[in-house]
Amino acid sequence: MGKLRAPSSCLLSCLIVLFLSSVSAVTDDGQDRQVYIVYMGSLPSRADYKPMSDHMSILQEVTGESSIEGRLVRSYKRSFNGFAARLTASELKHVAEMEGVVSVFPNKMLQLYTTWSWDFMGLKQGTSTKRNSTVESDTIIGVIDTGITPESESFSDQGFGPPPTKWKGVCSGGENFTCNNKLIGARDYTSEGARDNEGHGTHTASTAAGNAVAGTSFFGIGNGTVRGGVPASRIAAYKVCIPTGCSSEALLSAFDDAIADGVDIITISIGGKKASMYENDPIAIGAFHAMAKGILTVTAAGNSGPEASTVSAVAPWMLTVGASTTDRGFVTKVVLGNGTTLVGKSVNAFDMKGKKYSLVYGKSAASSNCSAGMAELCKPGCLEKSLVKGKILVCGGPGGLKVVKSVEAIAIIYKTPKPDVSFVLPLPASGLPEEEFESLVSYIDSEGSPQAAVLKTEQFFNSTPFVMASFSSRGPNTVAADILKPDITAPGVEILAAFSPIGEPSINDTRHVKYSVLSGTSMACPHVAGVAAYIKTFYPKWSPSMIQSAIMTTSWRLNATGAGVASTDFAYGSGHVDPTASLDPGLVYELQKEDHIAFLCGMNYTSDILKIISGESVTCSEEKEFQARNLNYPSMSAKLSRSDNPFTVTFNRTVTNVGAPNATYTSKVVHVHASELSAKVTPSVLTFKKVNEKQSFVVTVTGSDLAPELPSSAYLVWSDGKHNVRSPIVVYTDAY
Ligand SMILES: *[C@@H]1O[C@H](CO)[C@@H](O)[C@H](O)[C@H]1NC(C)=O
Ligand SMILES: *[C@@H]1O[C@H](CO)[C@@H](O)[C@H](O)[C@H]1NC(C)=O
Ligand SMILES: *[C@@H]1O[C@H](CO)[C@@H](O)[C@H](O)[C@H]1NC(C)=O
Ligand SMILES: *[C@@H]1O[C@H](CO)[C@@H](O)[C@H](O)[C@H]1NC(C)=O
Ligand SMILES: *[C@@H]1O[C@H](CO)[C@@H](O)[C@H](O)[C@H]1NC(C)=O
Ligand SMILES: *[C@@H]1O[C@H](CO)[C@@H](O)[C@H](O)[C@H]1NC(C)=O
Ligand SMILES: *[C@@H]1O[C@H](CO)[C@@H](O)[C@H](O)[C@H]1NC(C)=O
Ligand SMILES: *[C@@H]1O[C@H](CO)[C@@H](O)[C@H](O)[C@H]1NC(C)=O
Ligand SMILES: *[C@@H]1O[C@H](CO)[C@@H](O)[C@H](O)[C@H]1NC(C)=O
Ligand SMILES: *[C@@H]1O[C@H](CO)[C@@H](O)[C@H](O)[C@H]1NC(C)=O
Repeated sequence: MGKLRAPSSCLLSCLIVLFLSSVSAVTDDGQDRQVYIVYMGSLPSRADYKPMSDHMSILQEVTGESSIEGRLVRSYKRSFNGFAARLTASELKHVAEMEGVVSVFPNKMLQLYTTWSWDFMGLKQGTSTKRNSTVESDTIIGVIDTGITPESESFSDQGFGPPPTKWKGVCSGGENFTCNNKLIGARDYTSEGARDNEGHGTHTASTAAGNAVAGTSFFGIGNGTVRGGVPASRIAAYKVCIPTGCSSEALLSAFDDAIADGVDIITISIGGKKASMYENDPIAIGAFHAMAKGILTVTAAGNSGPEASTVSAVAPWMLTVGASTTDRGFVTKVVLGNGTTLVGKSVNAFDMKGKKYSLVYGKSAASSNCSAGMAELCKPGCLEKSLVKGKILVCGGPGGLKVVKSVEAIAIIYKTPKPDVSFVLPLPASGLPEEEFESLVSYIDSEGSPQAAVLKTEQFFNSTPFVMASFSSRGPNTVAADILKPDITAPGVEILAAFSPIGEPSINDTRHVKYSVLSGTSMACPHVAGVAAYIKTFYPKWSPSMIQSAIMTTSWRLNATGAGVASTDFAYGSGHVDPTASLDPGLVYELQKEDHIAFLCGMNYTSDILKIISGESVTCSEEKEFQARNLNYPSMSAKLSRSDNPFTVTFNRTVTNVGAPNATYTSKVVHVHASELSAKVTPSVLTFKKVNEKQSFVVTVTGSDLAPELPSSAYLVWSDGKHNVRSPIVVYTDAY
């Protein structure tokens, strides 16, 4: 699954594996049929149009069968038009040519990708946080995920009135699944019921909008109050994932329903391992329809970092979230027999009372048929059980987690490839960073009978600034090179939130918990969805782009450290979300559906593909060639050729005044990591006389000799003395 779990050896490579293989079923007649999505674009506005009967008659025609039972998997009929069906290769060809069919694509499986974090971001409990609880309780968050745990205290409806009147959804979560006035709706697209058997969907929903529940912890670790960003808001759960993944046909249904049900914000922590073209990306397609209906989709960047070009959510009509740490962390200490303490990473709830046990390094317990190198890494079948049983196993990598139970070791200490993340593990364990691991090995080598104790996890607070998580996917954007992605970062490391008691807190874990600690961009995404909902409670009429702009331009500034792309604008976009500041952005960068269509035209999409994405017939205007970098986006980015040296690029932008009627903003370009850049803003001062007044400006960036491997960046700040409306300006070369 996409959330980070036990660091098995698979962790680095198969976190969010995109299963491109279609779901196939071989039927009685021996013909191989696969599930395809037959996408028909926007719903016709004719009052007499009946989508279901149209879908059935299309299917009857292509299959030549009057009974289409078992063929129709799903109908999309509420927010856009189309269906999913089991088709043979020849039927596929036939249906693709039928009138009204925009495109046909195979169903694919995507993968999934708490709570001190709100305090960390300055959204405190109590009266110091400005809230409009009446409007907050009329706000509905749609969570597309693994389902939800309706009995969780995080979703209790104590104190809630009936659902808002705009709600048009249902509670169809299956047997034994009851909604309430907090969890107002549930739909299941997996045929196993909307109950969360996993924990992921319960966790993300509670992070966005769970109630405040005091006295929670993971076996005492991280004790305190768990809560979401908008505890008074309602939740609607759409279950699209099963343990093998989340199918695109289900995902599109969830968007179709959520939009029509009347949700205000959609949060979706699901994605592929890397970006897909918009026309092949069901989340981008669903989010486009949501945007057209005024609903912002917030999505996770992916867990494939820290390498460049790994961000998977790349459309400008969704808000893409990377993951970073907070000022709280979890550590698990190892005390050696000679008194030295080593500090490792894990969430270890097992209390061994400080008792020391013998240490045995895998290579000293090799079975006869294994090389020392394999045994050092504790590969399966490589350890002699009699030498390890009852002792603490020491392994050169996380692979040992797979064998530690079978050799009956009492605990494990391993060298972790992810020294910035603590994982819950099913037995006493600590993952040591490389240097600490070297100390452990030298201690073992120098001692006749080495011993150690693995302590229970402690939490610590530090004052050093948060950092990007190594796993968080990085830009640049491989689909639209001039749109900076991810957009923003939020807490996604060691987040304590509600969990499903049916799920396993870690792989092969027999414990059952109501709250657990998870890490991933999946956890960062609902934090930003919570902030988006929070903004919407103050400005119910704001469009998705206004909310997105408010979040991006008011974020905490981060500084590129220059250590590869790992910590540059390609990691965090505009910065770190700041819930309180986002309520008062001063100016916003607005975008309408037409702007996104012009952007797609400018990317030279054909009208066929434009129809796939937008669901409607689009004619691109010939005379006005649109450049993606001129999309009125709250960040500015341009990919240049290395031969453009020196270079000049311009960005056209328009801002809307949403602050005081009378305002004068002065521009300032702050150079952060860009001695090679200079930028001019024309006009350099903008004067507003009314609210909602728009003013345009052009940013001209010039420079030479860009570093080939790194983005060069600066910030544009519009300031009226009260607001600082900040946008990153990022230029980079095609050396990527
Ligand atoms: C909450 O918002 C509503 C609608 O915008 C407004 O009428 C009401 O005065 C607000 N209440 C508070 C306490 O701000
Ligand atoms: C529903 O609950 C009843 C009573 O607890 C139980 O017998 C039944 O197995 C449950 N059904 C499902 C599908 O969990
Ligand atoms: C957490 O538990 C510790 C130890 O029992 C206690 O000192 C602390 O006050 C608790 N913190 C919270 C927020 O409940
Ligand atoms: C080594 O031998 C054991 C016992 O026969 C077997 O279970 C294990 O799979 C073997 N390991 C390898 C790596 O071949
Ligand atoms: C989980 O348990 C199964 C069966 O014992 C084992 O084959 C597998 O390697 C274990 N996986 C992990 C990650 O511990
Ligand atoms: C314990 O052993 C380690 C490794 O040999 C060494 O670095 C450390 O200084 C020792 N600690 C004490 C207190 O001797
Ligand atoms: C970034 O640098 C600025 C200016 O040097 C500084 O004020 C700010 O605190 C730094 N921010 C972070 C997150 O380090
Ligand atoms: C689109 O096509 C035009 C004309 O061929 C070309 O100048 C432009 O660079 C292309 N744009 C992109 C994004 O490929
Ligand atoms: C950008 O703005 C300048 C100055 O207002 C204008 O001349 C130019 O046509 C604009 N370019 C685009 C692509 O809109
Ligand atoms: C706007 O500013 C002008 C000049 O400073 C002032 O005369 C006018 O009263 C202000 N209007 C409002 C609505 O504040």
